[in-house]
Amino acid sequence: MLVSLNGQLVPAARAHVSVFDRGFLFGDGVYEGIRVFDGLVRHLDDHCARLQQGLDEAGITWDAKQLHDLCPALLDANNLRDAFLYWQVTRGTPKPDHPVRARIAEADIEPTVFGYCLPTPGVETLTEPTECSGHTIRDDRWHKGHVKSVSLMANVIAAMDAARAGADEALFLRDGMLSESCSTNVFVALPAADGSTALVTPPVGDVSILSGVTRKVLLEICPEVQVRMVAEAELHHANEIFLVGTMTTVRSVTMLNGNPVGTGRIGPLARHVLDRYTAHIRAQLAARSTPR
Ligand SMILES: Cc1ncc(COP(=O)(O)O)c(C=O)c1O
Repeated sequence: MLVSLNGQLVPAARAHVSVFDRGFLFGDGVYEGIRVFDGLVRHLDDHCARLQQGLDEAGITWDAKQLHDLCPALLDANNLRDAFLYWQVTRGTPKPDHPVRARIAEADIEPTVFGYCLPTPGVETLTEPTECSGHTIRDDRWHKGHVKSVSLMANVIAAMDAARAGADEALFLRDGMLSESCSTNVFVALPAADGSTALVTPPVGDVSILSGVTRKVLLEICPEVQVRMVAEAELHHANEIFLVGTMTTVRSVTMLNGNPVGTGRIGPLARHVLDRYTAHIRAQLAARSTPR
């Protein structure tokens, strides 16, 4: 596998980053995860915008639009058309005459930019939501959930807590309100008083969560989805709960805290949302190959 390190394509085994890199010592960096279907790098502008927002907030000087050149170069080097691309930008390694543990790095430090890609299944395989069990965990993470920080220790601990409770995924609750999961946003189908079902997802600003690119696309292509806070008690009466994310696409939580969610099976709304999502991917692929 060839990886991208500071603009160079190198075999993974020969790609080296200093042990003094601030990404390693401080978790001082941000990242992106991007999906590619049949050579089409999906929603790159959204990924660049989110990465740039995180870089700017952290004061790391790097132009995220460079991903427009770096992504195809990495894909071509690995000869991949269906892939997951990971990019990480850390503040970098202090120069030898600068203190390694200074909380504020020197102004002219060079960021470290690292990317790898992995093969993934094509759009034709996304026929059915995957299925998992979930466990609610108190959201003790920091309050800058909109920054896609590489400091994921709280997410790792939560995932291990969920596994210890016998579940596949942790669903975070902050002050009794649903936020997100360790690596996805959450959609919930709730029964309404008139017998209908409301599909809802928590707002980005009010609970400290990541503005997921998948969530954003789904809000555009499924206008029936409402953005509102979801209380813990509502989760226990939900008809369906499902997770959405770049790698996950759509994953139904059919058991929560050991109890079935709705029928305890993958529900019609998760299927509907996945269908809309794959139709959207197919339409983009078709538009790309249609001559003007
Ligand atoms: C905490 C968290 N929430 C949500 C998401 C989903 O974001 P996206 O749809 O951009 O992959 C991720 C993705 O890594 C995440 O880490």
